[in-house]
Amino acid sequence: MKTKNHRLTLLVTLIYSSLSSASFIDNQSERWIDNALSDQISLLSLTGDPKRHRTIPSIDSPKAQLGKLLFFSKIQSGNFDTACVSCHHPNLGGADALSIAIGVDTVNPNLLGPGREHRATADNYDGGPTMPRNVPTSFNLGFWDRHLFHDGRVEALLPVPFQHGAVGPISTPDSGQGIADPGAGANLSHAQAGFPVTPQEEMRGFSFAQGNTNQEIRDLIAQRLRGELEPLAVNHWPALFRQTYNSPDASLKEVINSDTIREALGDYMRSQSFVDNRWYRYIKGDKAALNLVEKRGALKFLSNNSEGGFNCQSCHQGDLMTDEGFHNIAVPQIGRGKGDGETGTNDFGRYRETSALRDAYAFRTPSLLNVEMTSPYGHSGAFSTLEDIIKHHMDPFYSGAFYTYDGPQPNIQLADQRSNTFEALWTMFFQQATGQSKLQSPYSYRQTDIEDLSAFLRSLTDPCTQDRACLEPWLVDDDIDPDGLRVYAVDKDLNPL
Ligand code: HEC
Ligand code: HEC
Repeated sequence: MKTKNHRLTLLVTLIYSSLSSASFIDNQSERWIDNALSDQISLLSLTGDPKRHRTIPSIDSPKAQLGKLLFFSKIQSGNFDTACVSCHHPNLGGADALSIAIGVDTVNPNLLGPGREHRATADNYDGGPTMPRNVPTSFNLGFWDRHLFHDGRVEALLPVPFQHGAVGPISTPDSGQGIADPGAGANLSHAQAGFPVTPQEEMRGFSFAQGNTNQEIRDLIAQRLRGELEPLAVNHWPALFRQTYNSPDASLKEVINSDTIREALGDYMRSQSFVDNRWYRYIKGDKAALNLVEKRGALKFLSNNSEGGFNCQSCHQGDLMTDEGFHNIAVPQIGRGKGDGETGTNDFGRYRETSALRDAYAFRTPSLLNVEMTSPYGHSGAFSTLEDIIKHHMDPFYSGAFYTYDGPQPNIQLADQRSNTFEALWTMFFQQATGQSKLQSPYSYRQTDIEDLSAFLRSLTDPCTQDRACLEPWLVDDDIDPDGLRVYAVDKDLNPL
């Protein structure tokens, strides 16, 4: 009787451990994995075709072309030293390859990515100042239907699938959360493009348009483009805007204003659609598009714990691999924060918008398309490899407690970084204990799980994002510089990006 019981226990343990750990998937044949994936793909209704039902402007369209020139020009920054491309460069995955973005007052405004540094100025009151958060990519912007920004502060109030906020009202920081902003424009990209010019550390600088409202700042910049604010040595914007908005009888103000500027920028960003990847080919039936390791990774990503997976898709959902929702996974808080908490160095994430406990330290689930190209990861850029951010999800407490900080940063002490991270972790613990979290950590995992999952995530890269020649249409030709204020981007060795 005793032996029998013992055997039974052993059997149960074996079955349980094979089901609950991913080794179960590791032991299956490729054919079995293909079948299991095909079940998951139909269960989750994945199509591998995110462009379906969507309007994505071509980069060849006149507005996207005009937006591109604006995106590369420093004319929108108060002191002519920062452009959108300073932090969202196509050759840096639509981002800047930095943990925390650096905007105005740099030693070399053309230098992007690692090596970009602040210079001290009289206005530079806080030794930085960096931005509070990591840059999300501008790639595939037109695929979001609910929220832009890490905390979703640009938000479609009646989100309709595939519409990118083009149907129904949009709320923005101008109107306040949940309230329609009548000036938001035609869609989410259009709405968002009005905000980067407003923070001092991002583009405005510490002397331009101080004390003005967001709309006053945008109006001043439009005046500048019209040539009404200060003398510009070269100014082709009036001609370029007239060409694009094609209205010879309209006044210059009707052609160049904050609305047309936002629209052109938004169309350029929406044209950055990079969704040709091997995973989508696999979904559409090409079983050879992924290798065995990637297939195992895909299955571990999609299937739940009892099936030997990690249920990543419960948050990184659907074809775009995001639920566009907000979750606290307690990525270490290494930035200068958003002024939250006792020390004013914390960042409460979505809670800043909703004041709901469930949203404390919650940030928007990133899409994982081209994620290989957008390191560092998390809202604070705390992790530089895919392996590390995946391990963090497995056990945030362990990862957070043993996180290696770079040391004190401008305007934030090491001790505050640590205590901010622990606040996020304890909040996560509480959210998990009270059923307000989808993260079922800690997960037991093996090194092969991390390898398989990261191999799978690398199959989400559109090869165009790695190829300068393919990205050429989104870059500005060297001989085009409408105002003499173009960013000629270089890396830390001063080689052209
Ligand atoms: C100094 C760096 C910097 C500059 C310059 C900059 N951005 Fe950003 N951008 C950021 C950071 C950081 C965020 C995330 C902010 C947040 O979520 O709180 C962001 C967010 C965005 C987003 C939201 C993306 C998403 O997925 O939600 C868009 C779109 C965007 N920026 C477009 C622009 C445009 C257009 C310009 C120029 C007018 C610009 N940015 C200039 C750093 C920069
Ligand atoms: C509870 C929801 C949730 C689950 C489950 C989840 N994630 Fe995430 N993931 C997030 C959120 C939220 C972020 C962004 C956190 C931040 O900005 O601080 C994120 C960030 C990431 C990033 C970094 C992307 C970037 O651009 O910064 C990767 C990679 C990632 N997750 C992969 C995975 C994998 C692989 C799994 C399964 C093992 C997984 N996630 C499970 C919510 C989740």
